[in-house]
Amino acid sequence: MRVQYQEAAPAIDLAGQFKLAMGRFASSITLITTLDDDGHPHGLAATAFSSVSMDPASALICINRSASASPVIKRSGLFCVNMLQNNHEPICKIFSQPDLREQRFVAGDWQTGMHGIRYLVDAQAAIFCEVVQEIEHGTHTIFIGNVIDVITQPLEAPLLYMGGRYRELRN
Ligand SMILES: Cc1cc2nc3c(=O)[nH]c(=O)nc-3n(C[C@H](O)[C@H](O)[C@H](O)COP(=O)(O)O)c2cc1C
Repeated sequence: MRVQYQEAAPAIDLAGQFKLAMGRFASSITLITTLDDDGHPHGLAATAFSSVSMDPASALICINRSASASPVIKRSGLFCVNMLQNNHEPICKIFSQPDLREQRFVAGDWQTGMHGIRYLVDAQAAIFCEVVQEIEHGTHTIFIGNVIDVITQPLEAPLLYMGGRYRELRN
């Protein structure tokens, strides 16, 4: 028998509540990097990253279609997930503010990895992916990629985001 639930009280702003709830969810911050037809790097800061499967090794990112790197990922079919450590806050700000777009890939130690994609040398890990599926939902595109290369560094404290601000892991 189906259980009948009472409707929630009116005037609840579901999206606002959802945003508030997501603010309770501590996330590691990444820089997603990709490249255009001329080999120029593009990127943005993102928390919406997850592993998908180990067989095949795969991961997903959720990217707002308004982000300048979104059409570039679509065209190249490539992205790299750079996992930030807690001293990367300044570089994260550069990658999350449109007015600082010109400064991206200037600050920081960047090198060229598989297929010419830039990766941050002192990121905790850099995971290179080839897009195998794209799902449009709401304002975002979910890019699912198979992992094609991985570079890891010694374990450091991650840069975290929670409740609308940067945090450090205390252990
Ligand atoms: C902590 C943090 C997490 C973010 N996570 C995402 C994300 O998962 N996906 C996304 O599309 N944008 C995310 N953003 C927003 C983009 O980084 C930001 O809009 C960026 O300016 C987009 O690139 P653009 O300026 O070149 O368009 C995040 C921003 C911050 C500060």
